[in-house]
Amino acid sequence: MASMSAQGEAAIRPAVPADVSAMVRVHLAEFKGLFLAEMGPRFLGHYYEAFLAHPEGINYVADREGRVLGFVVGTLNEDAYRSAVRDRRIGMALASLARVITRPGLLPRVVGRFASVESDIRDPIEARYLRDGAAHLISLAVSSAMTGTGLGTRLVRAFEDGARARGKTTVYLTTAAESNESANRFYQKLGYALIGARSDPDGTRINQYARDLTSDAILE
Ligand SMILES: CC(C)(COP(=O)(O)OP(=O)(O)OC[C@H]1O[C@@H](n2cnc3c(N)ncnc32)[C@H](O)[C@@H]1OP(=O)(O)O)[C@@H](O)C(=O)NCCC(=O)NCCS
Repeated sequence: MASMSAQGEAAIRPAVPADVSAMVRVHLAEFKGLFLAEMGPRFLGHYYEAFLAHPEGINYVADREGRVLGFVVGTLNEDAYRSAVRDRRIGMALASLARVITRPGLLPRVVGRFASVESDIRDPIEARYLRDGAAHLISLAVSSAMTGTGLGTRLVRAFEDGARARGKTTVYLTTAAESNESANRFYQKLGYALIGARSDPDGTRINQYARDLTSDAILE
């Protein structure tokens, strides 16, 4: 559920399509140098539109007086999300092509990404959680100017509350295993248990986390 804010404090509210360009701006700044940011703003615009386009998307922004300072996006239904991505594949392919021409090194990951959206979930842990109906938290970022002020926690809690309100009992998420200690510590502090690890096709190690929403064990 969205939380109200005092004057000058960020409010957590559901994301709307008009937020996409601000979400892309935050993503480009906070995931600088990583694959999706390297794909550029046009690609990311399609990427975030897919979350907002399907009715089982679960998406919030931290908004302070009209400025988006962070966001969390994910889905309650993996198939519906993948279908929304596939609906955008022409736009995404054209945006990718424009990018790959100047950065040919991105090509293997672009191909891997498109292939993974078209195929079944390959990793057995991911398949089990998502086929069992876990909510999937897919992307989270907070503007670095606001790091450590609690916005990340409030966004994750809003996502969890939204998932719980729509009947979910588990949240599943992944984050890079290496050179990413802050995000790994952050999720562990919020009560996420490391349930496994896998490798992306390019060899990047990915940690897998889940949280049982029915457990009261984690108190803030
Ligand atoms: C990870 C991220 C979402 C955390 O958001 P945030 O608003 O700074 O987090 P909070 O203020 O709610 O912090 C909660 C706890 O997480 C931990 N934490 C957050 N950022 C941290 C950092 N940079 N280094 C170490 N620990 C950190 C702290 O333990 C903090 O608890 P504290 O109250 O004891 O300080 C944010 O730093 C971010 O957007 N990073 C870049 C993108 C990213 O890594 N996204 C997540 C991976 S997909």
